[in-house]
Amino acid sequence: MSAGFSPGWLALREPADRAARNPDVLAACTAAFCGRQDLRIVDIGAGTGATLRALHGLLLPVQDWTLVDHDPDGLATARKLLSRDPEARDTDGDIVLDLAGRSLRVRFRRHDLARGLPDDLQDTDLVTASALFDLTSIDWIEGLARTLARSSVALLAMLTFDGMIRCAPGHRLDAPVAAAFAAHQKRDKGLGIAAGPGTARGLVRAFAAHGYRCVEGESPWHLAQGSALRAEVVDGIAAAVAETALLTPPDISEWRDFARNEAETLTIGHVDLFAAPPPEGAA
Ligand SMILES: C[S@@+](CC[C@H](N)C(=O)[O-])C[C@H]1O[C@@H](n2cnc3c(N)ncnc32)[C@H](O)[C@@H]1O
Repeated sequence: MSAGFSPGWLALREPADRAARNPDVLAACTAAFCGRQDLRIVDIGAGTGATLRALHGLLLPVQDWTLVDHDPDGLATARKLLSRDPEARDTDGDIVLDLAGRSLRVRFRRHDLARGLPDDLQDTDLVTASALFDLTSIDWIEGLARTLARSSVALLAMLTFDGMIRCAPGHRLDAPVAAAFAAHQKRDKGLGIAAGPGTARGLVRAFAAHGYRCVEGESPWHLAQGSALRAEVVDGIAAAVAETALLTPPDISEWRDFARNEAETLTIGHVDLFAAPPPEGAA
């Protein structure tokens, strides 16, 4: 939604993301590991660590997290936020701490996913990602599915934009704006030509092809009037739509004013997915 992924933007969206995460999908993920004591998790496109903050309280007592991102600012902020805990210790560059009754070790890995997947992705139990897959191509997703399937690694993919941009009450330009934004989404965002609103379907297809059991659920943002996030989101959409030249500047500005200030609610659709590998030997 936003041109960049600054820590400020990620902080602005974090409460809305937390509220939006689909509880059934999260429950499917936690149920898949029940009975175990410890879990290795790699969060790709981790930003400032919002996925860890949203999930650690739901997962097993002992958690080993690796936060992967190419942006050093996001990773530095993640480290700073975790280090605020008075019990947090720096151990060989990792942060070790107890949070919500869980014992966590958090590693930080600066890595460009365009150069391939991190080497040790196959030595983990669960790969997580929030608001990342909108940036990826179907080829990239299929490569990830192949890699994870080789070692029976599960995937929890949250907050994948599904193409829905809707004001309530509706505006005559909602559909053209959504279509133009979708066209903008299908550009190369660094990980191949992005799949756009077809990303969630592409994820399910790619993982189901390896025998994964997929549990999906919606995780929309419902943004009320006056929210700072809504203003940023609307401006981001309007700027992207303007770049496509598919709508006239007066139409874009009419929709922007309505979506920013007049609509009661602005809904932005997302989808969450938990993909569980087939039992050993069943694939
Ligand atoms: C929308 S942000 C989401 C961040 C975080 N998961 C969250 O939910 O707050 C997308 C993240 O993907 C990261 N990213 C984008 N392209 C990447 C790449 N090629 N390699 C590694 N990280 C990438 C960005 O730096 C950013 O932190």
